[in-house]
Amino acid sequence: MIEMVKMDSQKHRRILEAIRLSLDSTVTFTTDDLKVIDFFVDKHALIEKNAIETAEQALAMSSLPIPKMLLEHLLEDEKKHDAYMGELNEIKLYMAKGAD
Ligand SMILES: [Fe+2]
Repeated sequence: MIEMVKMDSQKHRRILEAIRLSLDSTVTFTTDDLKVIDFFVDKHALIEKNAIETAEQALAMSSLPIPKMLLEHLLEDEKKHDAYMGELNEIKLYMAKGAD
């Protein structure tokens, strides 16, 4: 759990840095950038859905408290990753309006 908090803190630091950078500059995407996002979303959407299914199955079979608690955190993260794919797609559509 301590390691999970440390990793989340690192992630939050990077998110805050990305926010700062996005406020300090104009973000533009090329057509190639959009293709990379498309490829990433296509590939990872299925991976994330499979990860959710696997985590749910493992959680259903788990009765020990610590593995169960860790699996619940894993499942939450996989659901977030799945949602990120949708958000990434929205960003792609938004940025496609201004792409070259
Ligand atoms: Fe994931």
